[in-house]
Amino acid sequence: MYPLFLIGFMGSGKSTVGKELSEKLHLSFVDTDTYIENKQGMEISKIFEKFGEETFRKYEHEALQEVLSKNIIATGGGIVERKENIHLMTQNGTVIYLHATLQEIDHRLKGDESRPLWINSDCESKRSLYNRRDELYRKCAHHIVRTDGHTISDIAAKIVHKLSLNKT
Ligand code: S3P
Repeated sequence: MYPLFLIGFMGSGKSTVGKELSEKLHLSFVDTDTYIENKQGMEISKIFEKFGEETFRKYEHEALQEVLSKNIIATGGGIVERKENIHLMTQNGTVIYLHATLQEIDHRLKGDESRPLWINSDCESKRSLYNRRDELYRKCAHHIVRTDGHTISDIAAKIVHKLSLNKT
């Protein structure tokens, strides 16, 4: 069952929920974006700016391979852009889609400047990215957890309940 891979759109709460879950259950946790930033010594937005999205996707794929020994893995929203990543996740653990509506994402990401694929997009591109990704997340998720209107602690509790995880 482990690792638990948290997938979902930017701003869906993967990192915060992942941290909360790992504390609740005393399990190891990693966030692939943070892992990449530490390894490359550079923020994600800088990686996009300097080397472009393709290079970032390469780093992201390598990161995913390197963190598989962790219990809870929060991924970047674009992890599903590569088939190899989907294969790695579905074959090695349990994939949980943290679903949030586009309106909610839009609200949560207002003023956020750290996500190049969001700040540099117009409304139509955001909508089409959201719809395309939503389909990909649904296809590879073992479980879907709705997050709109729920606190981080509620969402973590829902996951514990859904997977019948025991606190240690
Ligand atoms: C991305 C999502 C980001 C980060 C990068 C690309 C995406 O992670 O990996 O900016 O393609 O959706 P979060 O989902 O944690 O924002």
